[in-house]
Amino acid sequence: MSVESAISCRQLSKQFGGVTVLDSLDLDIRKGETLVILGRSGTGKSVLLKHLNGLLRPDSGSVFFQGTDMSGASEQELLDARRAIGMLFQGGALFDSLTVGENVRFALDHHSIGTLAERNDRVAELLALVDLRDTQEKMPDELSGGMRKRAALARALALQPDCMLYDEPTTGLDPVTSAQINALIRDLQSRFGLTSVVVTHDIASATYVADRVAFLYDGAIQAVGTMDEMHRSTDSNIKQFLANDPLTVEQS
Ligand SMILES: Nc1ncnc2c1ncn2[C@@H]1O[C@H](COP(=O)(O)OP(=O)(O)OP(=O)(O)O)[C@@H](O)[C@H]1O
Ligand SMILES: [Mg+2]
Repeated sequence: MSVESAISCRQLSKQFGGVTVLDSLDLDIRKGETLVILGRSGTGKSVLLKHLNGLLRPDSGSVFFQGTDMSGASEQELLDARRAIGMLFQGGALFDSLTVGENVRFALDHHSIGTLAERNDRVAELLALVDLRDTQEKMPDELSGGMRKRAALARALALQPDCMLYDEPTTGLDPVTSAQINALIRDLQSRFGLTSVVVTHDIASATYVADRVAFLYDGAIQAVGTMDEMHRSTDSNIKQFLANDPLTVEQS
């Protein structure tokens, strides 16, 4: 494993109900890069992402986070790793009964980080970071879809993660709002040196945010490279994926 890797998957395999989703998958995510995972609906992109922060455990194989094998990690090592990896879930997933401010401060309160005044300052800083000033008292259902994504992003950033995992960050958003989210992903990468993994169907978004893309097909990463390299690929599955409008691919 390269020392430059933030996260590495080795021979990662996962089945659900006898159906193989990940099949001896290998992948290296470099420190500080934005890696986009492309693949058709139902190929296991979300399942792969959830293995990267230990939300799902592999049937076999390993995920190394900053050199530590998460499958052999102690409970404390696993908790530390999870704190260092933020995740923006597909669908946003804010707590509907909490205000935006309460959502963003959730992890800070849970881990008792800083004084009350410091937590208040941190919440304001996080909301400013995602351009959502003055929304602390609002309820999630008072926000637009794009604002909810940004609030969820502020919440995911609360513990100053080294890595961010984004599951379909622009799906369902209009092109202007998508462009704002893409710009934010890039901005966070350059400001904080974040390692980012972005799962998306959205080729325009992938083209904007990706340093490299990884193409998931048949349970494994079939190719990794720049978007330009993917466009030059002679692999029939990659050509077909890039040629079709990915938004017309059936959603699960
Ligand atoms: N917790 C689970 N229990 C059982 N099956 C699951 C579970 N999570 C995912 N699967 C199955 O694993 C396969 C891959 O699902 P996954 O959600 O990773 O696809 P995806 O590539 O993210 O698709 P989409 O682009 O539609 O989000 C699907 O067949 C799904 O039904
Ligand atoms: Mg998914």
